[in-house]
Amino acid sequence: MDNDTAGRKRVLVTSALPYANGDIHLGHLLEVVQTDIYVRYHRLRGDDVLYVCADDTHGTPIEISALRLGITPEELIDKARENHIRDYSGYNISFDIYYTTNSDENRRYAELIYDNLRKSGLVVEKEISQYYCAHDKRFLPDRFIVGTCPRCKAAKQYGDVCEACGATYEPTDIIEPACGICGNAPQMRKSTHIYVQLSKREEFLREYINRAGVLQSDMRNFVKTWIDEGLKEWCISRDGPYFGFKIPGTENKFFYVWMDAPIGYLSSTERYCTDNGGSAMDYWKKGGDAEVVHFIGKDIVYFHALFWPVMLDSSEFTLPTSLRIHGFLNIQGEKMSKSRGTFILAREYIEKVSHPQAAEFLRFYYGSKLSPTSADLDLNKDELITRVNATLINNIGNLHHRSMVFCERYFDGRVPDAAWDTEIAAQVEAAADEIGGWYESGDYKLAAEKIHALGSVGNKYFQDSKPWESIKSGDKNAAAAVVVTCVNLIKALIVFLKPVTPKLCAEFEKQLGVDLKWGDYRFSLSNHPVNSVDKLASPLGDEHLSALFTPAAEL
Ligand code: 2FM
Ligand code: ZN
Repeated sequence: MDNDTAGRKRVLVTSALPYANGDIHLGHLLEVVQTDIYVRYHRLRGDDVLYVCADDTHGTPIEISALRLGITPEELIDKARENHIRDYSGYNISFDIYYTTNSDENRRYAELIYDNLRKSGLVVEKEISQYYCAHDKRFLPDRFIVGTCPRCKAAKQYGDVCEACGATYEPTDIIEPACGICGNAPQMRKSTHIYVQLSKREEFLREYINRAGVLQSDMRNFVKTWIDEGLKEWCISRDGPYFGFKIPGTENKFFYVWMDAPIGYLSSTERYCTDNGGSAMDYWKKGGDAEVVHFIGKDIVYFHALFWPVMLDSSEFTLPTSLRIHGFLNIQGEKMSKSRGTFILAREYIEKVSHPQAAEFLRFYYGSKLSPTSADLDLNKDELITRVNATLINNIGNLHHRSMVFCERYFDGRVPDAAWDTEIAAQVEAAADEIGGWYESGDYKLAAEKIHALGSVGNKYFQDSKPWESIKSGDKNAAAAVVVTCVNLIKALIVFLKPVTPKLCAEFEKQLGVDLKWGDYRFSLSNHPVNSVDKLASPLGDEHLSALFTPAAEL
């Protein structure tokens, strides 16, 4: 319908790239749903928005997993990507491209950025000593050293952190270190590595993180503390065997996975443009008109706020306009944990929740709780039921159904040809900018609350106006005014909800034969045919969720 908002601005939006050696779980979904709401909002407004994501495919864990499975790393990552795409599509995540970091484009950009880091005088080489397994003929990353925690003496801990007491340490501190692959004792060996001297860009980074909108204020202080404590040299090389890109000019060194992972944002954009027209530089050129918005978890801020801007700046690419940092997902008040049975995979949720709108309801739940902070978010079964039923069923669903039934029964299957209530139309008009602003700022929770409040206004208006009595007493015009108002109000609420629950909203659009854009929140429907009046959603109950939330002990 509305198209007067076309071409407002150009935005490149990303979610963090999931590792190829893991399944997509509800924590990944929290991030992509948060991103997708933002993306869909901008599309609805007619912005030129591109949503790119990819699998993060390199590194020792992927190489070792493939080795253990007796397949090549390429086979492993191809299968993972297929699974990840399938899992995300179950939740209607509207990526424009879901690519891979193991691509020619990514290799080219990684080499270009490395070359420019060198030319900028930021790269040095240093010799260091590291654990080496003579049996497996490889240097061992921290996660591939196991031994006894130097602090609490717990056995079988990794080389960097003790899961029993939480201590962090150097792999050389661990007692009786052993190779995590074969169990043999490792030896120390020297190797030369390549480092980026971040401290040379300290002033640039201080200026960057203070730019308006780049970081949420709590996060800015965090990052500032890291800079104040002194920026360490960042090792971007790993010895082979390693699944990744070989570093030009070296014998057997590869780019560390965290070097080429964020470059995946750039190379995925490039691939999208090769396939669909345009140029990656429309989004990434320094001084261009595009915004770059990265949605990430609070565990990977260091990479995105410090390493990545230095990499981009050395190559004259634009810097991220905004890092949207979210917290972790807890399940029923607990950290997600495999052993406690609280670790929920994306496909498991869809398989176990026996409601056809399960995915849409999770989107709504996340949307109704998200705000622009890095606070953790809890998935709670009872709250999921309450939120979904209170807003989507008893409020919006109820107003929708009772209004549409009136169109069908008393107005020949049409939205009545009548004037709507100008007071309610004005309330919607006033809310639209607020809701739009909240989608932009990431305050989705406030948007959901406002949508709910407007739904309540509509239900009260319907109830107080008693259109059924007007029909009985023969005052069809009075009933028509109520019904046209409520259908238009519902249309507005559907526009506002479209970024969050696209499928449910598509059902409403089908019923009215419309394709709603943001500007269509304005009251405009009268004397319009109604194709069907089915309910938009059916209630969520305990019985739908019991298989998913069964405590591990009962399994
Ligand atoms: O933490 C992770 O899961 C990483 N795979 C995220 C990478 S995001 C980007 F930098 F590629
Ligand atoms: Zn070994």
